[in-house]
Amino acid sequence: MRGTLVKEPWQSITPAGCVAPPMRGWYCTVLREEIDTTERSDLHYVLDADGKPKRYKAWLSDRLAFLYDWIMEHNVLPKVLSGDLAAHLDALRRILSEVRGQRVLDVGAGTGNIATCLPTDNEYWGVDVSPGLLRRAHRRLTRAGFHPCELYVTPAGDLPFADGAFDVLLCNLTLNFVTDLEVALREWRRVLQPRGEAFCSVPVPERNARGAKINGALRPEAELREAAQRCGFAMETLDVENGTILYFRLSPAPSPR
Ligand SMILES: C[S@@+](CC[C@H](N)C(=O)[O-])C[C@H]1O[C@@H](n2cnc3c(N)ncnc32)[C@H](O)[C@@H]1O
Repeated sequence: MRGTLVKEPWQSITPAGCVAPPMRGWYCTVLREEIDTTERSDLHYVLDADGKPKRYKAWLSDRLAFLYDWIMEHNVLPKVLSGDLAAHLDALRRILSEVRGQRVLDVGAGTGNIATCLPTDNEYWGVDVSPGLLRRAHRRLTRAGFHPCELYVTPAGDLPFADGAFDVLLCNLTLNFVTDLEVALREWRRVLQPRGEAFCSVPVPERNARGAKINGALRPEAELREAAQRCGFAMETLDVENGTILYFRLSPAPSPR
């Protein structure tokens, strides 16, 4: 499929080049013009120059994807992040309760844990490098009632979506796996509407009182804030205590006068 508008069969005319959210029940993809994709087993893959689906090294192999939820609940959250999964999901539920009727992009969607936190009257797009996790996310999110619900195998810093395609971006417990933070943040700024916001959570070293070994790149809050500023965001820390995890909002930085 070429980067263009996609409609469900029962839909009629969709405004050409539509990016802003039209009526609920209508949607256009948010793909950039030059992007080619293919759909396999409910997931979208971006095609490379040879027409092959692009694939990435996944955090957890596809064969082990069924273990992900157990590992997060019983190992990663309590033992590595000194936190609690139920408290994490409660915090996200509170933070996202006001997000209604928006076009939402979930970066590092995993198995779709967000399904229990994000109101289902939002339109949902998710990206992740792991097809195994995304297939589980697709089942969970469609069962929860998200529509549309589109999942793309693509990394956080190389999004196939058009400028301004989304109102809200989410990125939970994933930024530490993103090697080039500023490349990703600039992509997020690009795909968000000018007034769009991001809600994120990530372990930070200064909250890691037990000195646990945490996978990926741990960046202190100050470093995240400075990188966000360089990429056009103002970062606001949210008032949540849950082990090593920092919860924060990224809003458009006021433009200099
Ligand atoms: C700890 S999980 C968090 C998943 C989900 N957001 C949640 O809260 O349950 C980290 C996720 O980031 C994904 N991931 C790792 N590196 C990534 C990258 N560069 N771009 C996008 N996703 C990535 C992994 O495949 C995994 O699903």
